[in-house]
Amino acid sequence: MSDKSVILVTRKLPDAVEARLKSDYEARLNPDDARYSRDELIERVQGAHGILTCHTELFDADMIAQLPDGVKIIANYSVGFDHVDIEAAKKRGLVVTNTPEVLSNATAELTMMLMIGAARRASEGEKLVRTRTWKDWSPSFMVGVEVTGKRLGIIGMGRVGQVAAKRARGFDMEIHYYDIRRLPPELEEGAIFHDSLEDMLPLCDFISIHCNATPETTGMMNAERFNLLPDGAVYVNAARGAIHDDDALIEALQSGKLNAAGIDAYNNEPNIDDRFAELPNTFLLPHIGSATAETRDGMGFRALDNLDAFFAGREPVDRVA
Ligand code: DGY
Repeated sequence: MSDKSVILVTRKLPDAVEARLKSDYEARLNPDDARYSRDELIERVQGAHGILTCHTELFDADMIAQLPDGVKIIANYSVGFDHVDIEAAKKRGLVVTNTPEVLSNATAELTMMLMIGAARRASEGEKLVRTRTWKDWSPSFMVGVEVTGKRLGIIGMGRVGQVAAKRARGFDMEIHYYDIRRLPPELEEGAIFHDSLEDMLPLCDFISIHCNATPETTGMMNAERFNLLPDGAVYVNAARGAIHDDDALIEALQSGKLNAAGIDAYNNEPNIDDRFAELPNTFLLPHIGSATAETRDGMGFRALDNLDAFFAGREPVDRVA
């Protein structure tokens, strides 16, 4: 019998990551990338010492209570860890880790794409070309709003928010941000701090979400807050759908309060509210903020570094519980 630790891997991971997993652990892989039901997951985790999971698996208190005693660590292949009940994990003595930093560039790139795609009506335009319904050019055809030089409000100025701000500066945007803490000047790079959303929102032509989903941030962008934005603002979310209230966002898009929205993260993925797809002024992507080959490898290696540290008796760098 092997003396390697047994790791249940819930989804198919990049080849290079799986190769390292197989060489260092007894890895229970998921080559078909099947989405395990809760019962299947509990069945497959028997005898394991750790779990390498994505945000697609929910480790709520009930699931954590059902994990066998031998499981000591949940290493997430994600920066977000709102799918894990951190308090329940702590109570049970489970170590939980995430994968920060490695996906900041990819997510910030996608944020710019959402911002520009929404402001410049990319979905509508692409549909016209693809469906061969593009009839003509005229000065009033497909007119959107310009990104360059506008005021961008960032909610959550962590690692991704800071890189998004850097990229937006390339478009001469004026950066505002709201966070629970002010950054030191060398990280702020001239961005204007606001200690309340109520102060910041009326100043934002564009608003981009980069905070974690927590009980405090869930539903933070509600009807009152959308109403504080200037008329015709553009809303972008490449973080978690939980931050906005779907009804409030849809109402703001329908009424024209918002000019457009670029969205990559939704409530109830992948079964999102149908109205998003019915609206012409949305630019919608399927949660692919971190989906570059470089970043997906980086996330896997970071999760493995955390597992390696844990099983070597060291503190994992990215421990969140
Ligand atoms: C993350 O890392 O949190 C991304 O949303 C993918 O899970």
